Amino acid sequence: MRSCSAPGKMILFGEHAVVFGKPALAMAVDLRVKASVNVSDQYSVNGHPMRARHHAYISAALDEAWDGPPLSVTTKSSIPSGSGLGSSAAVTVSTIGAILAERGQFDAERVARKAFEVEYLVQRRASPTDTSASTHGSGILVSPDRLDGFLWRIEKGTQEWNIHHCDVRKLTFVVGYTGVHAPTGPLVQKVKEFVESDAEGRKAIDRIGEIVMDGADAVAQADKPRLGALMRENHSLLCELGVGHPSIDKLIESCSEMCYGEKITGAGGGGSIIALTDAPKDVSEAISAVGGRPIIVRVGGSGVLVERQ
Ligand code: MEV
Repeated sequence: MRSCSAPGKMILFGEHAVVFGKPALAMAVDLRVKASVNVSDQYSVNGHPMRARHHAYISAALDEAWDGPPLSVTTKSSIPSGSGLGSSAAVTVSTIGAILAERGQFDAERVARKAFEVEYLVQRRASPTDTSASTHGSGILVSPDRLDGFLWRIEKGTQEWNIHHCDVRKLTFVVGYTGVHAPTGPLVQKVKEFVESDAEGRKAIDRIGEIVMDGADAVAQADKPRLGALMRENHSLLCELGVGHPSIDKLIESCSEMCYGEKITGAGGGGSIIALTDAPKDVSEAISAVGGRPIIVRVGGSGVLVERQ
């Protein structure tokens, strides 16, 4: 048996715009998925026969990385699914990691490439942000240009994304999960249709790209007031792109007075917000009081790891 674990992620700036080739900044969070693979007499996931429709990411991961005898796959996750915290990326990365370890071919860059192919296939359109953040851990800056801290480059059609290591200062974020499950694929499609049909959409994408680079500088200086202002501007632009949701507004209203800034993280449409604050306990209580699920996250931990048996 081989086991691998991989973290969820939090996008600080740049979700959706990154699918159009703009930069993004993401960090690993201390919520993980552990996947184990075992040679077996039939393909199964958590004890049930594997079905491509129900186990889309795992089934695609096996197609991408395995051509041996049937495998049973078991997963254990502390990341709420559809929460915007990268649960499907972490499932994909940990499964691919375990398969490559079983084949004696484990290597972070190979995991990141294969995991991106799987997300792209399942979601039909994706950037490598979630899968590379889960693979590398710490923080990553995704950029159309090659910069300091370069890790790897991922290409799809005419697009390319350069993935860079990014030091993540000790910033405290509270995640507020709305409880509204919001799969990424349809939201990415909705933004695509808007951007292709409306000049305002294109402008919003361009401005988000600029915010990311300002935000990377503010992260390097741990400049919380500047980060907070940029988070709020990024959030408004995401709402213009059509991925806001009443459940998100409710959580933001509950805590904004105690925060430097807050925004959607991930695909939106429900999912989660992140709030940058010096008062995580008070913010958590405010989020709970309006029916959200608060999670105080530590950012910047390990990426994909082969677990000792
Ligand atoms: C989802 O976590 C992030 C999106 O930008 C999609 C992607 O980058 O693949 C919405």
